[in-house]
Amino acid sequence: MLDRRPFGRIPLVPEPKPSFHDSRTIILAPTGKDTILIAGLLGRRGMPWHAAASAEDLCIEIGRGAGAAIISEEALSEGAITRLRAVIDGQPPWSDFPLIVLTVGGRVTIESERLRTLRQPLGNIFLLERPIRPETLLSTLEIALRGRLRQYQIREQMAQYARAQDALRRSEKLAVTGRLAASIAHEINNPLEAVTNLLYLMRDCEDMERGKRYLEAADQELARVAEITRHTLRFYREPNHPVDTQVESVLRSVLVLYHSRLTAAGVEANLEVFAPHATVLSSPGELRQVIANIVGNAIDAMRHGGRLRLRLSMEPGPGGQRVRLTIGDTGAGIPRSLLPSIFEPFVTTKGETGTGLGLWVTGEIVRRNGWKMQVRTLCGALRSGTVFSIVMPTGETAAAEEEVSAAVA
Ligand SMILES: Nc1ncnc2c1ncn2[C@@H]1O[C@H](COP(=O)(O)OP(=O)(O)OP(=O)(O)O)[C@@H](O)[C@H]1O
Ligand SMILES: [Mg+2]
Repeated sequence: MLDRRPFGRIPLVPEPKPSFHDSRTIILAPTGKDTILIAGLLGRRGMPWHAAASAEDLCIEIGRGAGAAIISEEALSEGAITRLRAVIDGQPPWSDFPLIVLTVGGRVTIESERLRTLRQPLGNIFLLERPIRPETLLSTLEIALRGRLRQYQIREQMAQYARAQDALRRSEKLAVTGRLAASIAHEINNPLEAVTNLLYLMRDCEDMERGKRYLEAADQELARVAEITRHTLRFYREPNHPVDTQVESVLRSVLVLYHSRLTAAGVEANLEVFAPHATVLSSPGELRQVIANIVGNAIDAMRHGGRLRLRLSMEPGPGGQRVRLTIGDTGAGIPRSLLPSIFEPFVTTKGETGTGLGLWVTGEIVRRNGWKMQVRTLCGALRSGTVFSIVMPTGETAAAEEEVSAAVA
């Protein structure tokens, strides 16, 4: 198995510097001279700061972007803690916002203990007991800001990862389009070659009966070209948002386009349709991409002939009828060691001819649409093969479920 996952090895572009907002320290110390003293201290070091007028203002400023907050304990009333908690709980996954709380030393009272317990879920808290030496405050703030900087780096890496995934998804879509375009050209070329030959034969043919047979054969070949063109034009015109999509028609269009690959590999394709009118809520292009990837892999696994079985049926499910699509092959099967990683990107056993993106994208489409997919495979010496089953809510069921949730909301 060749595993070409590049993540982790990608040299990351230099980290962008955090913006002015992202590196600010928000100060909330409404009583006494704390704000003036801290602001002066930060100002002399050239560290950006913002004095918040209230807990609400503090939360708004954290939302606008900040590196840390310095809060005096007196400002952390129960209401302020609740507000702050909502902000902290709503942070994105990369964020763990640092809070430096300046406590009032002295007696522990029931009230101070209660507030301390309430404060705990705020997470990343540094407690500094007053009176505080300026160096202690500055070094604590520097530690907090350094930690925040690491969080920004994680944010950037997550954004890069999302961008890379997006680029991969688009490249796989292009690869599928390229493969389909090659299949279409191949499919059209065969009947056109046949028509050229038949016309050549007709040129010197004086036997009317034989000439008629040539014409009929040419007619059939041209009908095939027309069928392929019809399917191709349908792709071109179909919407790329979810609509009620006839599964059988998508299945047939994939088989039309893979016809010559199936014939060349000596694969016999059987389509069993027990639910001819089954529809699912999907963009036809996405459903085709899923079927084309699975069928393409099945053909690759049966290079020396075999049987491809496609079965479309309905079955009862919890929220209504479900559509079950089963695609089975009699290929070599997927080795046990490879099975857990086939839905990861760049996992391929096909060397330079495979990108290892087909099943990754297939899995993503299945997950995004809320479908269920199962793979069963056997690598025995006497019997081998692989079966992919996909269960999808019917178009009508999906619409009905939407109506229910809209009524509940
Ligand atoms: N029906 C199957 N029979 C045997 N092996 C399979 C089957 N389907 C998938 N595999 C294995 O899973 C691997 C990953 O499949 P995937 O479709 O993601 O990538 P690929 O076919 O190698 O490349 P491509 O990006 O061109 O589709 C394949 O390389 C193959 O080893
Ligand atoms: Mg593939």
